[in-house]
Amino acid sequence: MKNTVINVEELKREYVKRGFFGKTKKVVKAVDGISFNVEQGEIFGLLGQNGAGKTTTIKMLTTLLAPTSGTCEVLGYKTFGEEKKIRSRINFIFGGEMGVYRRLSARDNLRYFSNLYLIPEKVQKERIESILKLVDLADRADDLAETYSKGMIQRLQIARGLINDPEILFMDEPTVGLDPVGARMLRDIIKNLKADGRTVLLTTHNLAEVEELCDRLVIINKGKVIAKGTPSEIKGHEATLEDAYVKLVQEVTA
Ligand SMILES: Nc1ncnc2c1ncn2[C@@H]1O[C@H](COP(=O)(O)OP(=O)(O)OP(=O)(O)O)[C@@H](O)[C@H]1O
Ligand SMILES: [Mg+2]
Repeated sequence: MKNTVINVEELKREYVKRGFFGKTKKVVKAVDGISFNVEQGEIFGLLGQNGAGKTTTIKMLTTLLAPTSGTCEVLGYKTFGEEKKIRSRINFIFGGEMGVYRRLSARDNLRYFSNLYLIPEKVQKERIESILKLVDLADRADDLAETYSKGMIQRLQIARGLINDPEILFMDEPTVGLDPVGARMLRDIIKNLKADGRTVLLTTHNLAEVEELCDRLVIINKGKVIAKGTPSEIKGHEATLEDAYVKLVQEVTA
């Protein structure tokens, strides 16, 4: 039976940009009426060119940004107005950005975030050890994060994203800047999350990754959905998903 965990209908978000002296005003329609839903246990891809509106969409879904209009529901609750019902059950990772404390070790970072989620001491200990193993940081868990490579920091961010045992994990470009081995490891972690029954919504500019991971995806362009479906539906008769993607984007920008 299907269990819809993300429901987005006609969702819009505008930003008001002011000129240098605050006199001129320009409205940017970052997300301009998108609709899609995600079922429990899916790996769902949100694709689109730079500036298409992906991060803005993820921010609304993760309760960090208010929609201008439309429906934005996660686990059956409104992300704005009922965010307290959602926050403990989801988590998010913004790739490339710093979401961990460099002056703390991996283990101390995870302890710190566990405390924010009020996870009981006993549960914390076990969970932290198993997550450190999962992201392959157990060996370096007591070194300060400032001594880690970019890939290790990224893996620590994943660990942080798992600390509250989330039902849905939102990942904005999780493999950006990772070497091939690190990127593959991350894809394996994502597959394991799915095998565990969790839902993952991710953005990436790597079409091969989408083919490998995603059950379904939407492609957005200038805030509007231009394609929706499984990777093979979107690929159609093109040789690769990348070919299909480029064609779709070129068609709407022509
Ligand atoms: N805080 C903001 N104020 C004004 N405009 C913004 C703001 N954040 C994003 N935008 C604009 O909204 C649009 C969508 O941006 P968004 O970051 O959602 O795109 P994206 O699809 O994540 O792109 P990328 O692939 O480059 O990460 C862009 O035109 C961007 O300039
Ligand atoms: Mg973005």
